[in-house]
Amino acid sequence: MEKAKVLVTRAVFPDVIGQLEQYFEVEANQDDRILSPAELAEKVQGKDGIFTTPSERITAEVLAANPSLKAVCNMAVGFNNIDIAAATQAGIMVTNTPDVLNETTADFAWALLLATARRVTESEHWLRAGKWQKWRYDTFLGADVHGATLGVLGMGRIGQAIARRSMGFDMKVIYHNRTRLEPALEARANNAQYVGKEELLRSADHLILALPYSPQVHHIVGAVELAMMKPSATLVNIARGGIVDDAALIVALRAGRLAAAGLDVFENEPAFDPAFLTLSNVVLTPHIASASEPTRRAMANCAAANLIAALTGSNPPNILNPEVLTKG
Ligand code: GLV
Repeated sequence: MEKAKVLVTRAVFPDVIGQLEQYFEVEANQDDRILSPAELAEKVQGKDGIFTTPSERITAEVLAANPSLKAVCNMAVGFNNIDIAAATQAGIMVTNTPDVLNETTADFAWALLLATARRVTESEHWLRAGKWQKWRYDTFLGADVHGATLGVLGMGRIGQAIARRSMGFDMKVIYHNRTRLEPALEARANNAQYVGKEELLRSADHLILALPYSPQVHHIVGAVELAMMKPSATLVNIARGGIVDDAALIVALRAGRLAAAGLDVFENEPAFDPAFLTLSNVVLTPHIASASEPTRRAMANCAAANLIAALTGSNPPNILNPEVLTKG
C-alpha cells in the first residue's frame, strides 16, 4: 500500500522524523526555514497530514489549498495559529499537545515571577557591566513573593499548576476564569479564591496570565486594566502575545504605573516591540516556557502520535474538533 504523505513544517527532533517515516512519506524541514503562507499552501498540496508548530499560521487559504488534507497536528497546547473553524468545515482533524507541558510551563511562570519581582536579570546585567562597586542597603530592592497575593487569570491546567506551587511561598491565591473551578480543584490550587476580573486586577501583588488566546481575549489586559493594578504589582505573561496590549504595557512600565513585567510571549513575536529593550523593569524570554528537554520531546511525540492515529484510522487522542470524526 502506498504510504500517506505528511509535511513537517519546522525542524523537530530527528528521532520524531524517524518515527513518522515508519508510517509516512515525510517532507521534513530540518533546515528550519520559515515558510511563508504561500509556500505552506504549496507544500501542503498532495499531503494527507501536517505536523505544525505555533509559529505557522494555518489559515483557511492554506487549508483550502488541499481538499484532501485530513489532519493538522500542532506541537503546542495553544492552537490559535490554526483556523479551526475552517478546518472543521473542511472535515480536517486538528490536534494539540495538552497536559504534557503543564508542569514545565508552570515552573517557568515561577522562574519569571521570581526573576521579575526580585530583579534577577536587571541586577545581573548591572553586575556584568562592571557597575558593582559596593554593597548598599537599597541595591535592587524588589517585591516579596512569599506571603503576597498571587493572581491567576486563566485557571486551566497550567494556571492550577502555577497556583499549586504557591503553597511553599505561603501565598494567598485569587483567580479569575471563564468558569469557576470545582471546590476540590480550588482546594488543590492552594485554596484559590474565585474573584471577578476587576478584583483580581486590583488585589493581586503578582498577576500571572495563563489563559488561551482567542479573539475574545485580545488585549484583555490593556491600558484600563493595567491602571487598575497596584503600582507595586508585577505581571507575568506565559500565555500568548495579544492577550496583553504591549504598547499600553510599555507606557505603564515606563511611567512606573506597574513595577515590572516578565514576558515570555509578545504581540507579533519574534518581532516584538523594541521599546521593551529600553526598559529595565522587564524580564524578556523568547517563548520558552515549555522548553525543557523532556517536555519538548513529549510534545513532539504527542503531536506525532496524533498524526499517526489520524492517518491510520484511529481517533487521535487530542482531537480539538471531534465533530469531524462523525462526519460522513
Ligand atoms: C506553546 O506556546 C504552546 O502553546 O504549547
